Amino acid sequence: MDYKVLDKTYGFFYNYFLSRLPEGLAIPIGRGLLKLPIEYLPVFEIDYSGLETDLGGCMLPNPVILAACYHQPWIIRKASKMGFGAVTLKVTRDPKRGNPKPNIVRKGKGFVNCIGFRNPGMEKTREFLKDCDRRKPLILNIAGDSIDEYCEVIEGLQDYADMIELNISCPNIENGLYFSENPEQARDLFGESVNLSRKPLVLKLSREDGYKEIISNAIDSGIGIVNYGNTSPVKEDRLSVGSGGLSGPELYEDTIRNVKKIREEFGKDLQIIATGGIDSGEKAYMVMESGADAVSYVSGFITRGPFLAREINSRLSGR
Ligand SMILES: Cc1cc2nc3c(=O)[nH]c(=O)nc-3n(C[C@H](O)[C@H](O)[C@H](O)COP(=O)(O)O)c2cc1C
Repeated sequence: MDYKVLDKTYGFFYNYFLSRLPEGLAIPIGRGLLKLPIEYLPVFEIDYSGLETDLGGCMLPNPVILAACYHQPWIIRKASKMGFGAVTLKVTRDPKRGNPKPNIVRKGKGFVNCIGFRNPGMEKTREFLKDCDRRKPLILNIAGDSIDEYCEVIEGLQDYADMIELNISCPNIENGLYFSENPEQARDLFGESVNLSRKPLVLKLSREDGYKEIISNAIDSGIGIVNYGNTSPVKEDRLSVGSGGLSGPELYEDTIRNVKKIREEFGKDLQIIATGGIDSGEKAYMVMESGADAVSYVSGFITRGPFLAREINSRLSGR
């Protein structure tokens, strides 16, 4: 069956049913659907030739990445068989419960979340990674409150990952933006991470002003890849903590504008992963034309469903 038929079916289901349910009900139903063995559909057996992408020496079969959001091993395992060139798993040194519900609400065609790093921590994550039959490169998205926390996770888990993403840009936990707002401390974090890491490092940027100094510090320290970028901080009374990070199509114009700017300012030596509002093959194509080396998304995985990576790869390859 053509993937476009399946894609349209999901679109119909999402727009007329899932998106009209309260979030607390829609999330478990969406997760339940994802548990179906859809990853074995022949539409995911794609010829990626011509799309192979080298990110800092790590070869991806294609430049489409599932961005940081998930800590659940089963989602990562599944997504790695659904047309992505790489998948991202988030982790912190210690287990984190995250913020209480409601911690994600819809806003326009996107979301505002204050999930706040809910994950089982490094030790449990290592158990999963040890047994993980990884089909695609795995990016470990690390956050922490101190340089030591980042370093312990890099040391403890780097053997089980293909790339390490330093998340210094989470708007919805205390201290989540500390390194973004303190370029000197960020420079120390980058230096220590580069010394420790045997895997390519990615810097996940915040969408706030001031990325120029942070990127310069990253490049000086030896980090050659940036991900622009994280969610955008907004007030949101419906969330348990009163604010969160905006994701989805509202970010797209900002993403494309800043990818262009970063490319102009830092030249070809820096690699850019474009993230924020990418939910169609055309948007992915446009952002690649604007200077990105790869694209990643989360909201589109929910609103457009599991066939979006397939659509983006088709658009990028012209097949
Ligand atoms: C529910 C949720 C959880 C997220 N968790 C993380 C995270 O742990 N680390 C991170 O770097 N970004 C996280 N993000 C941000 C996404 O990786 C991405 O940068 C952002 O959502 C913009 O992309 P999008 O518009 O395609 O969703 C999260 C986003 C969402 C919606």
